[in-house]
Amino acid sequence: MSDTATAVPTYSICAEFEGKTYRFRCRADQTVLDAADSADVPLPSSCCTGVCTTCSAVISLGKVEQPDAMGVKVDLQEQGYALLCVSYPRTDLMLKAGQEDSLYDAQFGQYQK
Ligand code: FES
Repeated sequence: MSDTATAVPTYSICAEFEGKTYRFRCRADQTVLDAADSADVPLPSSCCTGVCTTCSAVISLGKVEQPDAMGVKVDLQEQGYALLCVSYPRTDLMLKAGQEDSLYDAQFGQYQK
């Protein structure tokens, strides 16, 4: 890696998915999903533009920036929901991926009774 690349902060990501725990590094200018792909970590995704919610995760520790996460209401983002395809780490992260159903319930469950 060149010196220019190391000038961008890099964070440690600990991701749980389907009972397995994966650890990989993610640069501040890279989405968590991109970093997972580069590290051969098989996290779910589909549209990769912040709309479909396939890549939903819950961040249990740390902070992301996700200005393009159209598929998640702001108050749910504040509760830790994130769309990994448009999430840039701002700290080290611990997260649980594969939370599409949980996010759907949180966003729309109230309308289904
Ligand atoms: S893959 Fe569709 S919102 Fe992330």
